[in-house]
Amino acid sequence: MKKEKKLTWFSLVKWTFSDRNDETYNSEGKSRFYDRIARDFFHRDRLAQFISDTIISLFSKQNPYICERAAGSGIITESLYGNGLDNIRSSDLSESQLLVLQEKLPKIKVAVENFNELMPNVGDDSFDVIFQVGATRFMTKQGQINYIEEAARTLKKNAYLLWPVMWAEIPLAWARVGWNSPRTFSFRIARLLEKNGLEIIKAPILFHGRMFLLTTTFLIIQNKKQPIKRNIFSSLFHLVSKLDFKYLRALKK
Ligand SMILES: C[S@@+](CC[C@H](N)C(=O)[O-])C[C@H]1O[C@@H](n2cnc3c(N)ncnc32)[C@H](O)[C@@H]1O
Repeated sequence: MKKEKKLTWFSLVKWTFSDRNDETYNSEGKSRFYDRIARDFFHRDRLAQFISDTIISLFSKQNPYICERAAGSGIITESLYGNGLDNIRSSDLSESQLLVLQEKLPKIKVAVENFNELMPNVGDDSFDVIFQVGATRFMTKQGQINYIEEAARTLKKNAYLLWPVMWAEIPLAWARVGWNSPRTFSFRIARLLEKNGLEIIKAPILFHGRMFLLTTTFLIIQNKKQPIKRNIFSSLFHLVSKLDFKYLRALKK
């Protein structure tokens, strides 16, 4: 078997520029490269384990129906599956990302889908959990509203939306589309969620690596199905009251 080239800091810089130019996920080779860089540099496996643990703690003994959007090469999917959460619908815009995912997990249902658009083929009250990881920066302004409205519609009452607000996505979003980027700060996302009846119930700040940008405010949100009326100050106070801090350690091999 051909030996894989070692990843270096130069690989990371190269990836950052291709992400900016929308070239990162459009071929199988690039999808495999992303899969390695996400593990080796971004410690995505630690975040994946945190997501699995969170879902297990929210649902204790049931096997919830999970909708994973922008699933990519399946790093999070793999962790869910390995933790016994196998009722998953994974989608992504990129066929090559899903190809890498399906190679690892042939039993998972996949769909090629743009999360900026509506999901006419998915019924109301379908899912127990919806999430995306590392894809806030790919939302358009209207797409972000569609994403939230579709989550409120397709989640059951009191079901959960998980939104990791990755600090690294803030500069990446600006680099991609300038000042006209989607909302990337937790507080601004929280305001959109509240309008749609989605209530933040916890917001741990996760440190998943030594680099400062490997930090995520992880919003755990419940679907109340009724708009939540707050002003700017009470929204901010609510968000701050839900924060705590956690360092995600390396997983045991
Ligand atoms: C940084 S990767 C994250 C992948 C995966 N969630 C993970 O954590 O490893 C971003 C993913 O978003 C997908 N993506 C970008 N724009 C999208 C869109 N409009 N609709 C759906 N997926 C999109 C890309 O194809 C890519 O797989």
